Amino acid sequence: MTIGFTVEQLTAVASDAVRAPSLHNTQPWRFRLRDGGIELSVDPLRRLPATDPSGWGARMACGAALFNLRLALAVAGTPASVRLRPYPADPNVVARLVPDVPRRPTPIEQSLYGAIGRRFSNRAPFWPDPVPAEVRWRLGEAARAEEGWLELLIGTGAVNAFAEIARSAHRVLERDPAYVAERVAWIRSEPSSDGVPAAAGGPQGEPQDLLPQRGFGGRNRAPGRDFEPEPLVAVLGSAGNTATDQIIAGQALQRVLLTATDAGLSVSMISQPIEVPGAREALRLSLGRFGTPQMGMRIGYGQPGAATPRRPVDEVLDLPVAQA
Ligand SMILES: Cc1cc2nc3c(=O)[nH]c(=O)nc-3n(C[C@H](O)[C@H](O)[C@H](O)COP(=O)(O)O)c2cc1C
Repeated sequence: MTIGFTVEQLTAVASDAVRAPSLHNTQPWRFRLRDGGIELSVDPLRRLPATDPSGWGARMACGAALFNLRLALAVAGTPASVRLRPYPADPNVVARLVPDVPRRPTPIEQSLYGAIGRRFSNRAPFWPDPVPAEVRWRLGEAARAEEGWLELLIGTGAVNAFAEIARSAHRVLERDPAYVAERVAWIRSEPSSDGVPAAAGGPQGEPQDLLPQRGFGGRNRAPGRDFEPEPLVAVLGSAGNTATDQIIAGQALQRVLLTATDAGLSVSMISQPIEVPGAREALRLSLGRFGTPQMGMRIGYGQPGAATPRRPVDEVLDLPVAQA
């Protein structure tokens, strides 16, 4: 077993970690090496005070980045053992990773790792083709493998109930000027290393749409370019809703997203019903289950698209200053 991770290893795996999704592509994470361990922290300067007052979104994003880190280390033959929130006095530290017994990566780790660079949020209409039962099962297994749950909504009743809760949460959020100002501030019409490129924003919402689309300055729609009539909607959740549960949910989210990518599927995230407390409770009740919903998703076969930009990895690393 190696004594500790090196700066070179950290730099290599952090460049995979930053491919994780984050609210408005804020990329709210920092990475450092401490006593041979890799530590991942929430970057408090990149939290969204109006959209994410509790820090849920930043912890979900860091959980997703942590899953990529674990995969990248495993695929390099240097898997890590992970402690979540290792320092009670410093709750921003999401995880500490130290070297575990070296082993070969599993085929699943290899294929999920291969999907990291191909995954992106696809907000455009999907093809109407149904997602086969075997793939649905794999998506549920992916969430369970990371101690999460994934509810795939079956039937128009369940999908309509989700849609109604999501649309009303969307309206609540859009009435808050601070929330709207934050959303608009993160739309990018010029090349940028963070924020949501207008081209990735998906088409503008229309009154007939079943699901709400967060407005990221997307293009107008040609007449008749509607969304798929029967979307596959999923809700990902965790057992509880502590900060640790949210990091666990972020890892489960990323495993589901990479499993979907590996299966040739596209996903867009719908978190409005998670961000409004009353809507989240209504969603939990409509699912009729214990635990806490942490993310809504639309899953299907999408048109090709491109990954969104990320900041250069040296902007998110806190490395010791070399002694002269
Ligand atoms: C916690 C969280 C909530 C999100 N909520 C939404 C959402 O409601 N609508 C949406 O279109 N995208 C949502 N996203 C996706 C981000 O906008 C997206 O990950 C980010 O812009 C980076 O783009 P990428 O996913 O293509 O890499 C969310 C992502 C995270 C991690």
